Amino acid sequence: MISIDDGLARFLGEELDEISGIFESQLEGEHDIINQICRHVESYRGKMLRPSLVLLSALASGVEEMSASHRIIAAVVEMIHMATLVHDDVLDEADTRRGGRTVNDLHGNEMAVMLGDYLISNAFHLCSSINRPEVNLLLGSTTNTLCEGELIQLGNRQNLNIGEDTYFTIVEKKTASLIGASCRLGAALTNDDEDTASRLERFGVASGIAFQITDDLLDLVGEEDVVGKSVGRDLEKGKLTLPIIYALGDADADFHEHLVKMIQSRDLVGLRCAVNESGAIDQAMKKAASLVEQAKSELQDLPETPARNLLAVLADGILERRY
Ligand code: IPE
Ligand code: IPE
Ligand code: MG
Ligand code: MG
Repeated sequence: MISIDDGLARFLGEELDEISGIFESQLEGEHDIINQICRHVESYRGKMLRPSLVLLSALASGVEEMSASHRIIAAVVEMIHMATLVHDDVLDEADTRRGGRTVNDLHGNEMAVMLGDYLISNAFHLCSSINRPEVNLLLGSTTNTLCEGELIQLGNRQNLNIGEDTYFTIVEKKTASLIGASCRLGAALTNDDEDTASRLERFGVASGIAFQITDDLLDLVGEEDVVGKSVGRDLEKGKLTLPIIYALGDADADFHEHLVKMIQSRDLVGLRCAVNESGAIDQAMKKAASLVEQAKSELQDLPETPARNLLAVLADGILERRY
């Protein structure tokens, strides 16, 4: 068991506060109406996973001092993430996020769509301030990929025959791409060591897929007051996630019919029990665990530093997520 370095944890906490400050000042404007709605989303801070990955990847790549560009890009990836959450909650008709009310629930879909656009626009505006076109290009390509993931997912709603391959395509695009880019950028803003940047990106992509698998498990088996966001939305919206895909794939004709009936009638409790008893939840957890191992193997050839160790701890933490 690797212990988390106290000095590093304190350093990260201070850096994340500074990054939240950059985030807030970018969105601070002259119109109260906009400020109020931005303050609402800022007041519910999430896990700050993506900015933490920018910082830890920079440290794992040998950064001596965190630069303004590192901090700005850490704020940018969190802003992109926040934009995707605000829009995702419209698509999922979710009312709870980070223990508070979603923008769509509080202000309606029109406001949430526009706020999501405002966040993404501000993210790219802020990104341009570091004057590194290759960073804009990478993040532009990442947001394209992210939207592709959500679009493919939308196109597969209610598709009972969606296979594992399509599921992984969606998850890699909608979730792992931004997590991988956060890791790559932490390294790329530090030096020109492409080998380290690619390793860290691969670490982020494999961890990101595992992260979405466990997120999907929480949506199926978690409780809203612990998870902090609406649960059961995947079933409600006809999104078949990995445990359900595994359960359907292994089922005999009778069990298959039973599962399909529960999916079609949106019977969350029944589906949760049946999928659990079939062993498909364990199977999905095993898949997540093997992706976490794959992610950690990418760290092996990096110098052993507290930051590298913390990246491994974060990857292991994906399998223990409760929120
Ligand atoms: C939620 O991401 C969306 C997914 C990709 C599953 P996080 O779980 O990182 O959300 P916050 O930022 O901590 O709220
Ligand atoms: C992840 O999918 C959404 C994005 C990557 C934007 P989910 O729909 O599972 O995310 P949550 O559970 O609402 O956070
Ligand atoms: Mg959602
Ligand atoms: Mg989810």
